[in-house]
Amino acid sequence: MEKRLIWDIPTRLFHWLLVACIVAQYLTAEVFDAIDWHFKIGYFTLGLILFRLCWGFIGTTYAKFSQFVTGPGKVIAYAKTLGNKHSEEHAGHNPMGGWMVIALLLLVALQGISGLFITDDIVNNGPYYDAVSEATRDIMNAIHHTAFNVLLAAIVLHVGAVVFYARFKQQLLVPAMLHGKKSTNAPGISSSRLVLAAILALVVIALMYWVIEVLPPEPVVEEFFY
Ligand code: HEM
Ligand code: HEM
Repeated sequence: MEKRLIWDIPTRLFHWLLVACIVAQYLTAEVFDAIDWHFKIGYFTLGLILFRLCWGFIGTTYAKFSQFVTGPGKVIAYAKTLGNKHSEEHAGHNPMGGWMVIALLLLVALQGISGLFITDDIVNNGPYYDAVSEATRDIMNAIHHTAFNVLLAAIVLHVGAVVFYARFKQQLLVPAMLHGKKSTNAPGISSSRLVLAAILALVVIALMYWVIEVLPPEPVVEEFFY
């Protein structure tokens, strides 16, 4: 089997930036109380997710959703091979992993979007806090606080799966997420499509600027009485 390029540079960059962002979001909310950083990194994280969602349609072969989002039949068939030490390594995401990718992306999206509608109860309101009713804010707040625990559970499962593949199946998935290459008979990709990725990144930045800075309503100025 030959070493072939499977994960393009944008997908790998996306992954490790996402990991850094989730850690930073936890620290800025729970440890350091650095809410302005929490907001800024939160917008960046949402941008990352938007980028990845688009890349899932226009990116390289193994980054495409059509390559790894499969029907229940394939997922069940794959699940049956889990206990087999010598099952063949997939070039891209395997059918179960593919759905985990979708779950992780959606959970982070939910976390980021709900954040836009809530307040830290001091002076910092998300950009859409004034756009919705008290009831909606409460729901978004509940989502923002609960979804993180679900996300944490998903991450534990995700990292647990990576460890399981390394220990039980002797399939080392992490190096491939770092340098992009795997020993495989499947065709590799010939380029990371960096120009396309750069254009997409610019479009995402413009869109995020519009959503965060232009579109939200004027903040309601609260009167303080002393
Ligand atoms: C904050 C925590 C994490 C999140 C939210 C996360 C999320 C994701 C996502 C969304 C993907 C899909 C990549 C793509 O196609 O775009 C992925 C894949 C992957 N992640 Fe993570 N990840 C996290 C932590 C980690 C850690 C700590 C490791 C290393 C131990 C890791 C190793 C991998 C590997 C090896 C893959 C590729 C799996 C495969 O070969 O199918 N992840 N992760
Ligand atoms: C996208 C990834 C995000 C993650 C992973 C995340 C994570 C968290 C976590 C773990 C907490 C603490 C919850 C608790 O105390 O139970 C929190 C609180 C909070 N987050 Fe986020 N957040 C994200 C995005 C955002 C965004 C985009 C905004 C607003 C623009 C935001 C606004 C807030 C606010 C206002 C709080 C409450 C802080 C407080 O209670 O003082 N978050 N977030």
